[in-house]
Amino acid sequence: MASNNHNLLIMLALFAITCSIALASDPSPLQDFCVKDSNSPVLVNGFACKDPKLVDANDFFYSGLNMPGNTSNPVGSKVTLINVEKIPGLNTLGISLARVDYEPLGLNPPHTHPRATELFTVIQGTIQAGFVTSNPENRFLTKILHKGDVFVFPKGMVHFQRNIGHSKALAISTLSSHNPGIVTIANTVFGSNPDIPADFLAKAFQVDKNVVLNVQSKF
Ligand code: GLV
Ligand code: MN
Repeated sequence: MASNNHNLLIMLALFAITCSIALASDPSPLQDFCVKDSNSPVLVNGFACKDPKLVDANDFFYSGLNMPGNTSNPVGSKVTLINVEKIPGLNTLGISLARVDYEPLGLNPPHTHPRATELFTVIQGTIQAGFVTSNPENRFLTKILHKGDVFVFPKGMVHFQRNIGHSKALAISTLSSHNPGIVTIANTVFGSNPDIPADFLAKAFQVDKNVVLNVQSKF
């Protein structure tokens, strides 16, 4: 009897391990595609599928990535993200693409993608890229990248790039989600809606409240 109970416990433990392995990542698609149905009122984790009979090639198509993004802004860079909103056919496929343009010395400021790892490739120019590991080490891993160089920003890590050359730079990234999300640190902390109380941030950043008010006024 004792040995039966023991075997049962082992089987339950094995079952639990198998389940946790099976649920550790996004499920594979169970059909050829699930094109985002923009008209569906159904709210699910992702987007409902358009009737496959109504799908056509345009659902898998985007044109215009040859056009530079508008970098006339305070940081001198522009990310053009081609996600499921731009190509409905990306829905459920776990992939998207970005073009990043930089003015000379332009910065793509510190940000994270809550749902994706990013594979960053320099097409033109010289770019310093880096990310910071999580607490408590907070290691800053950085590298100077030239045309053809590839760098990885692991999912969720705060990362940035800066064009350190004196002419424009261009990069292309692939991201491991159809909807990677972008959380820009400065906008999130100092430009939230409504504001995070300035005295909270003054304590968090160990600065005078006026410094926080000044930074908040810029976002
Ligand atoms: C875009 O998200 C980038 O980091 O290049
Ligand atoms: Mn990024």
